[in-house]
Amino acid sequence: MSNQIDDFTMSYQDTCDQITLLLIHGFPLDSAMWEMQMQELPDVARIVAPDLRGHGRSDAVPGPYSMKLFSDDIAGLLDYLNIDGPVVVGGLSMGGYIALDFYRRYPERVAGLILAATRAGADSEEGKAARDAAIATARAEGTAPIVAGMLPKLMAPASYEDDEIVEFVTEIMEGASQEGVIGALAAMRDRPDSTPTLAEIDVPTLIVHGAEDKIIPLSEAQAMADAIPDAHLVVVPDAGHLPNLEQPDIFNDAVVDFLESLEEHDHDHAHHH
Ligand code: MLT
Repeated sequence: MSNQIDDFTMSYQDTCDQITLLLIHGFPLDSAMWEMQMQELPDVARIVAPDLRGHGRSDAVPGPYSMKLFSDDIAGLLDYLNIDGPVVVGGLSMGGYIALDFYRRYPERVAGLILAATRAGADSEEGKAARDAAIATARAEGTAPIVAGMLPKLMAPASYEDDEIVEFVTEIMEGASQEGVIGALAAMRDRPDSTPTLAEIDVPTLIVHGAEDKIIPLSEAQAMADAIPDAHLVVVPDAGHLPNLEQPDIFNDAVVDFLESLEEHDHDHAHHH
């Protein structure tokens, strides 16, 4: 970087010069789920990982929540951090639903997308009914039954043999507030179909999906890869719904390759202009 300071051009190094990688967590998790990315990727990107409203250490504000509200919160955080230039937006599962909403409404703020363990479609009628039932349960009994119901579906069988991961994920989910869980369930139930958005995505997109995801089938990732013009799909073996935690090396390598390809993409563009 260089900047005109007083009467000379001063050169300087600043790790904020790196592209920003904004990572949006899934339900009912928080930014701690990106621990292996925060540890391994700071050399290649400035990583910003918010706790969504009602999740982690953010305030447990009462609902209603929506995908629009979540992505406005994220735009607000980027403003607060004075990050004006486009960033790479990555989201896992519900975080991916938010990333697609964010792209739709703030395309100029997005340099690339990472869609992990997610899908473009809206909830089916059955899916909406299941959200309503889960909301009723969370109202009556708190978040514990929601966490207990999700835990066995979250990961690949091999991951359950690793007590450290199981405890880590359980602890994160137990930290979600009742307001956050209810608000996010309703926001997911009411989210719009992002399928029509896919063909309009004109930034490079990395799609990462666990081969053994039981919550969102791999076919959903394949469908997004087919519909997005510049998409690359990485299928992660021995991973379920949390590929970034279950197979962090494979996930991180895919992200590093993607960020490098974005830089080349930028250079190509510079040549054309
Ligand atoms: C998530 O993992 O964020 C959610 O389970 C996704 C969903 O329920 O649709």
